[in-house]
Amino acid sequence: MHINPKLIKHQFEKSLDTYNKNAVVQKIMAVKLIDELSKIKQDFGSILELGSGSGLLTEELVKKIHFKNYCANDLVEKSKMYVNKIIAGASFYCGNAGRIKPAEKMDLIISNAMFQWFENLEKISLHYKNILNKDGILAFSTFSPENFKEIRDLTGLSLNYKSLNEIQNIFEKNFEILYIEEFKHKLSFSNPLELLAHMKNTGVNSLTAQHWTFKEVKDFCDRYKAKYPDITLTYCPIIVICRKI
Ligand SMILES: C[S@@+](CC[C@H](N)C(=O)[O-])C[C@H]1O[C@@H](n2cnc3c(N)ncnc32)[C@H](O)[C@@H]1O
Repeated sequence: MHINPKLIKHQFEKSLDTYNKNAVVQKIMAVKLIDELSKIKQDFGSILELGSGSGLLTEELVKKIHFKNYCANDLVEKSKMYVNKIIAGASFYCGNAGRIKPAEKMDLIISNAMFQWFENLEKISLHYKNILNKDGILAFSTFSPENFKEIRDLTGLSLNYKSLNEIQNIFEKNFEILYIEEFKHKLSFSNPLELLAHMKNTGVNSLTAQHWTFKEVKDFCDRYKAKYPDITLTYCPIIVICRKI
C-alpha cells in the first residue's frame, strides 16, 4: 500500500504523549538494539538517530553508548523537545529521514521501529552508506510480514513489510551484516476496542486515513472476537546491525 508521510506525521504528532506508556514492543526492540550494538561497539563520534519520536530509543542509547555529537530527526517537530530532555545539546533535523543530508558524515546511524515506512530500501541502503564514515555502522529495527497479521487478515490493510532474507539481501550489497534477528511478541487485550486504542496510542493506525463508522468498528470487533478469541496482536520485529563496506 502507498505510504503517506503527511498521515504518518499527523498520527504520530497526536500519539507522542501516549506513546511511551503504550509502546511495549517498541521498547523491547530499543533495548535489544542497544544491547546488541553495545556488544559490537560503544564509542562513536557522530550519531544520527532517525525517527526519534518521543525519545524511547534515545533513552536506552544514552545508558550504554558514548558519543561526541548527536543529531536526531523526525517528521514531527515536537520530537526535538523529547530528545533535548535526554541529550541537551542534540541538534535536530525535522523532515523525511529518507532525504536527510547531514553536513558531516556520521559514525553511527540508528533507528528504532521506523524503517517499515520506507518504500525503497535499496535506495535507502545506498543513501545511508554514502553519509556514513569509513567503517560506519547502521543499526535499525523494523517489522517482518507477519507483523499485525490479525489486522491484515481482517481488513486487508498492511504495510509492504520485507522478510529477514529480503532485508539481508538488500543491505549486504552495501554493508557487512554484523547482527540480524527476527522475533515474535504477542500482546493480549481484554477486548478489540482496547486493541484499537493501543494502535492509536502508539501512532500505528496510520495505515488508512479513513475514519470508521460506528457500524464498521462494531463489525471489526465482532470479527476479531470470532477469529481471535484471545484478542491477541502479533508483533514481528527484525533487528539489523551492519557495517559499511
Ligand atoms: C514507531 S515511532 C518510533 C519512535 C522511536 N524511534 C522509538 O524508539 O520508539 C516512529 C517514528 O518515526 C517517525 N517517522 C516515520 N516516518 C518517518 C520518516 N520518513 N522520516 C522521519 N521520521 C519518520 C514518526 O513520526 C515517529 O515519530
